[in-house]
Amino acid sequence: MKDKVTTIIRKYDSDRSQLVSILQDIQTEFNYLPRTALDKVSKKMNIPESQVYAMATFFRAFSLKERGKHIVNVCLGTACHVRGGELILDTLERQLSVKAGGTTKDLKFTLETVNCMGCCATGPVVKIGDEYFGHMTNDKVESMLNKYRE
Ligand code: FES
Repeated sequence: MKDKVTTIIRKYDSDRSQLVSILQDIQTEFNYLPRTALDKVSKKMNIPESQVYAMATFFRAFSLKERGKHIVNVCLGTACHVRGGELILDTLERQLSVKAGGTTKDLKFTLETVNCMGCCATGPVVKIGDEYFGHMTNDKVESMLNKYRE
């Protein structure tokens, strides 16, 4: 981990104004912002820890909790809700054995909810990584997950 974080910091010439980009790259590398990585950023870039953590917690896109390889987003916006989004979430929670916000023990999946993905006509919608699954039904959940289980 040390070397990867150092490489990222060097890529930006330890430029303090690039802190957000550095945190984005660290999150891309590890799927979340490990505490040890944030401490390293603080020390290497001579930025107070409180400032690094303030930035890391300000943006919703950043996570301080370990996340799975695949992020599963279930839409619970109004259009998806009325078409059964909650039932899809229940099925995913059962199949993955985690509640919304949780990460599977094998670190393959993190289950999250969102309020709209901008494709309401195809609701209920689930997104895994960059792939959207519209008109989702409980019957399709398992085969959708199987694409990402390997
Ligand atoms: S409410 Fe689900 S995509 Fe808009």
